[in-house]
Order: sequence, then structure tokens, then C-alpha cells
Amino acid sequence: MILEICKVSKAYPRGKTSFFAVQDVSLSLDAGDFVCIAGPSGSGKSTLLAIAAGLLSPTQGQVCFQGQDYSRLSDDALSVLRSQGIGYIMQGPSLLPNFTVLQNVLLPYYVRAHLRKAAAPPVERASMLLEQVGMLPLAAQYPAELSGGELRRVAIARALLLAPVLVIADEPTGDLDEGHTEEIMQLFSRIAQEGAALLVVTHDTAPFRYGNRSYSLHPQGPASRLTAHEGP
Ligand SMILES: Nc1ncnc2c1ncn2[C@@H]1O[C@H](COP(=O)(O)OP(=O)(O)OP(=O)(O)O)[C@@H](O)[C@H]1O
Ligand SMILES: [Mg+2]
Repeated sequence: MILEICKVSKAYPRGKTSFFAVQDVSLSLDAGDFVCIAGPSGSGKSTLLAIAAGLLSPTQGQVCFQGQDYSRLSDDALSVLRSQGIGYIMQGPSLLPNFTVLQNVLLPYYVRAHLRKAAAPPVERASMLLEQVGMLPLAAQYPAELSGGELRRVAIARALLLAPVLVIADEPTGDLDEGHTEEIMQLFSRIAQEGAALLVVTHDTAPFRYGNRSYSLHPQGPASRLTAHEGP
């Protein structure tokens, strides 16, 4: 089991009261799983992914990554675990402006090298990933010179640099056209076939055909709940 989310809820304050952005969500991902979750804006998708990545603590419930409960780890141990094993594609802009495209893709290497000794920078792998997302010709450019979809594709290449066992992607194709969406989803499928687990959220159900399991996250009264879809 790569990721196990058990009865997770997250309450946020709102004005003088509070509400559940996600409630009682349970989900497990094994090696090779490609799980898609769709939900409208505000249904708790980003909140759930941040909890899955160990970036946000749930109000209730438990998350285990490769058998390790996030809540029992120190901040340092959690950072090592994340940098080693999880590729996280954030919803918003996430590239560093003063680094080139190639340097941005190499960032996970430098973070890991800071945490524990590492070999030489994997420039060849970074270039190969940039090639796979169609961004190699712009490897020497800076983020300010790129379009929204180009920035997204660089962020995807960066998340895959260290061949993480778990890839978490928050609306990875939100600003991509149909052709590039297809390419990225095919890339994710290949990574799942090679044995990683993928957890992808989108606002629509179009990507469901790529995954082997799919769910909807919908607001129900004051909370958002997860329901499974039959078939891919
Ligand atoms: N830090 C916070 N404090 C209070 N409320 C929050 C916080 N972060 C998110 N929320 C609220 O929680 C709900 C879920 O937010 P979340 O970002 O998880 O939704 P989402 O499904 O990712 O939406 P989108 O599709 O627009 O990205 C929203 O109603 C949002 O306003
Ligand atoms: Mg979101």
C-alpha cells in the first residue's frame, strides 16, 4: 500500500463558525493505481490533496504513506519522506522566477541533496522529462517568459524528477489544450503502469477514462464527501 487515507475530515473556520471542507474521506492507493477525483470549485479537492501529501494536518482521521503515519513523524522526517517519495503538482504557480526552466526541474534534486547526500544533478533525466512534456526547447528560458500551460508542463516535469512512488496532481491540465492534456494523461498512465501511484484531481470528469478508479467530491450540506464511480 502506497497511500492510505482513513476517515479524514478537515474543518476550517468561517466567520464565527466552522465548516468541513472534506468529511469522512477514505481512500487507498496501491502501486499502479491511477485515481481520478472530480469536483466543482470549493468542493475540497486541494484541501484533500494537501492532506494526502502531508502538507496539511486533518482535523480528524489519519494518513499513512508507505505505512508511516504522517502525524507520528517529526517535521524533518516528514520532509525527507516527501522529498523522496512524493511528486506534488500544485494548483497555482509554483516555479521559482529566478531559475531557468531546467533549473526549476532540478529543484527536487537540490532539496533532497540538502536533506541527504546525493549524486550529481540528474540533468539528463530532467532533459528527458522536459522532452516528454514538450518543453525541452525552452529549457534555458525563465518562468516569466512562459505561458500558463508551459509553466504547468514544467511543474509536471519537476514533480517527476526523482521518480516518486506517489504523484499528486492538483488540476494538472486545467490550463492545457486537448492535445497537451492527452499527452500529460498518457504520461501519467505510463508512470502508473511502471508502478507508481497517481492521485489526480480535476474539476471535470473527462480524465476519468485514463484512471483505473474514479470518484466525485461533492459538497453535501455543510461538508464535502467522496463517492466512487463504477468502472474507469
Ligand atoms: N485556509 C483556509 N481557511 C478557511 N477556509 C478555507 C481554507 N482553504 C480553503 N478553504 C475553503 O475550503 C473549501 C475547499 O477549498 P479547496 O481549495 O480545497 O477547494 P477546491 O475543490 O480545490 O476548489 P477549486 O476547484 O476552486 O480549486 C472552500 O470553500 C474554501 O473557501
Ligand atoms: Mg483547488
